[in-house]
Amino acid sequence: MAPLRSPVPLEDIEPAARPVDVAVGLPPACYTDTGFYRFEKAAVFDTEWLCVGRSSQIPEPGDYFTATLLGEEPVIVVRNRDGRVNVMSSTCQHRAMCITAPAERPKEEWFDQPPECSGSTRNFRCPYHWWTYDLDGRLIGAPEMHRRPGFVRSEISLPQLAVEEWQGFVFCSLASDPVPFGPRMAAFDEMLAPYCMDELSTTEPEHLEMPFNWKIFAENFMDAYHSLRLHASLYDFSEADTGNETLLAGTFPAMEPGSIGIGGRGRTGFKDRGMNPTQSALFPPIPTLGEDDRWNVVYLYVAPSLLIGCHSDSVHWTAVQPAGTDRSMMTSGFLFPESTAKLKLFDQLLDQHKRGLDYFWDQDMPVAVASQRGMASRFAPQGPLSQQDFFRSQLAEWLMERYLAAEAT
Ligand code: FES
Ligand SMILES: [Fe+2]
Repeated sequence: MAPLRSPVPLEDIEPAARPVDVAVGLPPACYTDTGFYRFEKAAVFDTEWLCVGRSSQIPEPGDYFTATLLGEEPVIVVRNRDGRVNVMSSTCQHRAMCITAPAERPKEEWFDQPPECSGSTRNFRCPYHWWTYDLDGRLIGAPEMHRRPGFVRSEISLPQLAVEEWQGFVFCSLASDPVPFGPRMAAFDEMLAPYCMDELSTTEPEHLEMPFNWKIFAENFMDAYHSLRLHASLYDFSEADTGNETLLAGTFPAMEPGSIGIGGRGRTGFKDRGMNPTQSALFPPIPTLGEDDRWNVVYLYVAPSLLIGCHSDSVHWTAVQPAGTDRSMMTSGFLFPESTAKLKLFDQLLDQHKRGLDYFWDQDMPVAVASQRGMASRFAPQGPLSQQDFFRSQLAEWLMERYLAAEAT
């Protein structure tokens, strides 16, 4: 295979990957150029791990949900008879129909893309000609095919993707032999341990298609610089979080070589801080947190596809994937301990809790749309970074490593 070449010269990208006090932004073409998007997809997303959701969404054998990787690759996430999570292509190996698509749709939906779905099943039967696959993707039924000379049913199965579970999240990779995931997040084990995230269950994930490059979203999510300004009307980060040296005024710890985590722990100005107009957590603290942990928040980017914010009463998670140069897909939810989910007024409080985050996104999303527009301008800069822009230089450093590796192969 010919080596990949970035249409944006890597020497133009390198100044973005320097230490924050001398770094500049990525070249605007990294957000707008379709050739660069293809390069980045191959260099980063085809080789790394993509978060598709939570293991607790499929507790029992046969439980499944669907997802679309990179806006183009439909997959099924299913728990098999042995209790293991499989991620497999939902592309039928007969004539390529997406086997989880509905067999029939009303006229006004004829030309819509197949919707995502979830459920519980013993096997998957393609609606088209009824080829049937088991929970491990093995072809177990193929009408009429016994008449075809040399047809060996056991030789056909749905393509399986590499899978790893981490902190209750399910990751898969389109690479045939991806570098293992878990060891590259080990630096964060101690920081995340008090939250016992694999024991928390998620609210129903919500999906959102966003009209901007995936980096605009990730950079904004982790951006400390704007929190004190864009969100000044919502939340007094500066006053309440004066003790916060990690998240707002400093940098995240340097990445270990090979790491896929960028993030850190911040100290809040008072205990049980919450992201809602009361500024206090609406739910009881996660029972496994110690007294001191309740003064902390942990913000973490699990490159390239997951963003997590840990608070004393809950964790919010957002999986993001590109689906084009200026299109990305977000799946997000909140994690709670079982004891909280059983509260009598849980649903009512959850509405308020979600609305609390939406107030921030009411400001973040229009800003992201406007930033994408600006990146396409002939006047878009490779502007200098503030000290509080430290996530952007760390992300650029992480990406640069992958871009260089892709050009070297
Ligand atoms: S396309 Fe699935 S059975 Fe023919
Ligand atoms: Fe924000």
